[in-house]
Amino acid sequence: MGEVLPLPVQEPAPEERPVLVVDFGGQYSQLIARRVRECRVYSELVHHATSPAVLAARRPLALVLSGGPASVYADGAPQADPGIFELGVPVLGICYGMQLMARDLGGRVERTDGSEFGRAAVRVEPDSGLFGGLPADQVGWMSHRDSVTAAPEGARVTAGSPSTPISAFEDPERGLYGVQFHPEVLHTEHGTEIMKNFLYRIADAPPTWTAAAVIEEETARVRAQVGRERVLCGLSGGVDSAVAALLVHKAVGDQLTCVFVDHGLLRKEEAGQVVETFGRHFHVPLVHVDARERFLARLAGVTDPEEKRKAIGEEFIRVFEEEARKLGAVRYLVQGTLYSDVIESGGSGDGVAATIKSHHNVGGLPERMDLELVEPLRMLFKDEVRRVGEELGLPDEMVWRHPFPGPGLAIRIIGEVTEERLAILREADAILLEEVRRAGLYRELWQCFAVLPAIRSVGVQGDERTYAYPIVLRAVTSEDAMTADWARLPYDLLETISSRIINEIPAVNRVALDLSSKPPAPIEWE
Ligand code: XMP
Repeated sequence: MGEVLPLPVQEPAPEERPVLVVDFGGQYSQLIARRVRECRVYSELVHHATSPAVLAARRPLALVLSGGPASVYADGAPQADPGIFELGVPVLGICYGMQLMARDLGGRVERTDGSEFGRAAVRVEPDSGLFGGLPADQVGWMSHRDSVTAAPEGARVTAGSPSTPISAFEDPERGLYGVQFHPEVLHTEHGTEIMKNFLYRIADAPPTWTAAAVIEEETARVRAQVGRERVLCGLSGGVDSAVAALLVHKAVGDQLTCVFVDHGLLRKEEAGQVVETFGRHFHVPLVHVDARERFLARLAGVTDPEEKRKAIGEEFIRVFEEEARKLGAVRYLVQGTLYSDVIESGGSGDGVAATIKSHHNVGGLPERMDLELVEPLRMLFKDEVRRVGEELGLPDEMVWRHPFPGPGLAIRIIGEVTEERLAILREADAILLEEVRRAGLYRELWQCFAVLPAIRSVGVQGDERTYAYPIVLRAVTSEDAMTADWARLPYDLLETISSRIINEIPAVNRVALDLSSKPPAPIEWE
């Protein structure tokens, strides 16, 4: 009897193999994945307890072990099976990841008095793998209490700072690389180059993950999922649903119908723009539902913020369902779920974040509609969605549009939402945006908008006494809306905005500025 040989396993092409970021709960884990992708290499986060066999089955090009808040010796500190170092692919351990590596591979980690937070001067070995071609003296961003005091046997120390003599080590033979500072943080002077050294030179990862590649891959996936069935997509006017719709349209053409419910709570001229872009420009079959009166009627007399949100959410679902029913047999529903949503919900939709307010997303449609989900953006971060949008030819004003809440202007009108108050807010909002754009600051802000409080104050205009509304300006900078800071808009710009609003909108006699950061103040007022 001859020897039984294992069947040859077809090795996927390098561009199909991911770099897996093993997450130990560090604040920068997502950022590592994003930075890898910025180097045009596809990357995903995986839980630290993922078994070596499961990791191997993904055929990764490399592993990156993230930082984490714990000490590797602490009870309950997140661990990984040391088998992950035996997969035959290079491993880069960052901060906690480096310490874990040192501990598991025969080095030593200790709490020394070498803790460092912030910028540190590091001296690196320019002939090493990680720091090849980089200046010997550079700034690294540190955030650690424990330090590696002995590198694993056979590893070479390749960087040190005054308080942390072992700031990096490597053992190219075994594919092990550790770095104490954070190459993913922009304060690390040569962070991107360090990442590129690891990805391109050490892991041989090809820089092929581009917006065009994503489009090709996702359209193929959607086609395979959907077959000949019909697909429905709710458009909100925001970038996520727009890009999701265009991707699906590219994949299955007229099998897709988009439904755009104009609830009358959009910004000035926004509804027209959606219809124009999708219907006329992209020729996507589009049902435009003018539900403005219906929503206003439903909101009459509603002043409580939660009640307002619920009313809008419910009405939205009702309208959407009515329209879907008219379309006949539809099997799939497109949702603009992003990778950050997937990560936040633990990847399985079981997130337990406290409900501070009931978010209403256009995607948040009822389960009882019995539609299967198509989520072409579920592996993408927001900035990647924007790049895909650009590649698909979506106009700039849609691609770069600030986030806008599902309940729209209704949650920026304190008290009752009426036609008259909507008109006031819409005008103020339009002036604010126009001036911010003119000043070239739109893209620098996460969001900027006007709020209409439910109070009035006395003023004098001409010789007349007025008793009119104030408008509050809210402009924030943020990375991800989890935290936000109020934007330092130039005084001259504020003056222009204020005087235009007061002069052009008779119902307004005062403009105020919201100087609150989040936390504690959320970005929206309701
Ligand atoms: P807050 O006000 O919680 O907002 O700081 C964080 C981000 O979420 C947006 N937001 C919403 N988006 N439906 C949405 O689609 C909602 O109900 C909703 N509420 C808030 C908000 O504009 C900010 O970008």
